[in-house]
Amino acid sequence: MEGGDQPSEKGQSIVGWDLEAAAARGKLSPMSASTENNCEGGELLLEELLVRHRAAFCERFGDSGEIRLFFSPGRVNLMGAHLDYNGGPVMPMTVHNGTFIAARGRTDKKLRLATTFGVETHELDLVRLPDRALGAWVDYPLGVARALLDQVEAPFGLDLLFGGNLPIGAGLSSSASICVGTAFALDYMWGSSLAPGARVQAALTAEREFVGVQCGIMDPFAVGYACPGHLLWLDCKDESLEHLPLDFSKVRIAVIDTNVRRQLAHGEFNQRVDECRQAFEALVPFAAGATCLRDIPISVLEEHFDNLVPAVARRARHVVTEVARTFTAREALIDGDLAVFGAQMSAAHRSLAKDFEVSVGELDCLVDAALEVDGVLGSRLTGAGFGGCIVVLLDAAACQDLEAQVTAAYQRDFSQTPKMWFFEGDAGPRELEL
Ligand code: GLA
Repeated sequence: MEGGDQPSEKGQSIVGWDLEAAAARGKLSPMSASTENNCEGGELLLEELLVRHRAAFCERFGDSGEIRLFFSPGRVNLMGAHLDYNGGPVMPMTVHNGTFIAARGRTDKKLRLATTFGVETHELDLVRLPDRALGAWVDYPLGVARALLDQVEAPFGLDLLFGGNLPIGAGLSSSASICVGTAFALDYMWGSSLAPGARVQAALTAEREFVGVQCGIMDPFAVGYACPGHLLWLDCKDESLEHLPLDFSKVRIAVIDTNVRRQLAHGEFNQRVDECRQAFEALVPFAAGATCLRDIPISVLEEHFDNLVPAVARRARHVVTEVARTFTAREALIDGDLAVFGAQMSAAHRSLAKDFEVSVGELDCLVDAALEVDGVLGSRLTGAGFGGCIVVLLDAAACQDLEAQVTAAYQRDFSQTPKMWFFEGDAGPRELEL
């Protein structure tokens, strides 16, 4: 399973890591859309999926010795869209779909890496890991191994088999899932007892310095600092974080996949990052002490709006208004006012569609259909946009209506049945003893 040249095509029902962050920036193609062995039964319990994963490991690497099993979740972002690389606050939550890792220690210093999504096995020498990315999925675990080896001794080599049940390119951060998950598995296998923050940093170093993706910090933080039943409040300017409870006795978070995967998204994401940088550079002379676009007051943007390139001005308007909406959502969550929280999500979608221009017709159709459902509190696209998933906050009692009405609308407008999940947050990277 080398990274394929083409992203997955619309409508394919395949699972695995999407390597979203890299793919979104054009650094690496997502995995090829091989369908063999890809559908690991999204409805099965995690334990069952991991038992199957262990069987796949035995087929690939033989069944002698102790095989250990690890899971690392994906994430969905509820508020703070496109704010992480602008120094703003974000409110993500882990989901219970993610990356599976089966691992076994070796008596030598070899690292063998394979995946259920392809047939190749990459065999490397732990004491001489490549210092350049290979341009394949394996760069993620390899980059993490390199980052960890700067901090810890590797007492022995490992055989590792990766797999998973996150939809490809859908905005649920499979790249952070695999990177933080690899850091966790290596840490546990080698007994190095790293703090969660060190694993998150290794994941970030892998993506930024080895894979070569200038990703924001939201995704690895969301995965590495997961707390079930809570949203993470992460201020990307000073990296301070807090876990804010969401009352899952009353509400649910639904994620609905358009099945749209746009290759164009690669360049478009980079363009948004660049437009935000341009906006900051143009406005910073009028905002004393500002260090990122998040710091630009709305009054300063309003005063200079017409002097900016129109698209740059609109991108900046999304960012500064999204910062305000995200703070409002935080207060609403703390006050238990989920109607106000949901209204911020829906306003965020309008801003993402009109000002940030990262929505597509399929996302708008799902959001509009969701907002028609009694008991839906708010809805917006999640992840980078251009396709992928929407996220919906709704009353727990409204799940069936949501499923029926959104499915009907999507079938009517796009002749497809969208895939849908309900999430309550996940406990984060962990070993499962099965
Ligand atoms: C992608 C990136 C994240 C973040 C979101 C937009 O998912 O990987 O870092 O920028 O887009 O909020």
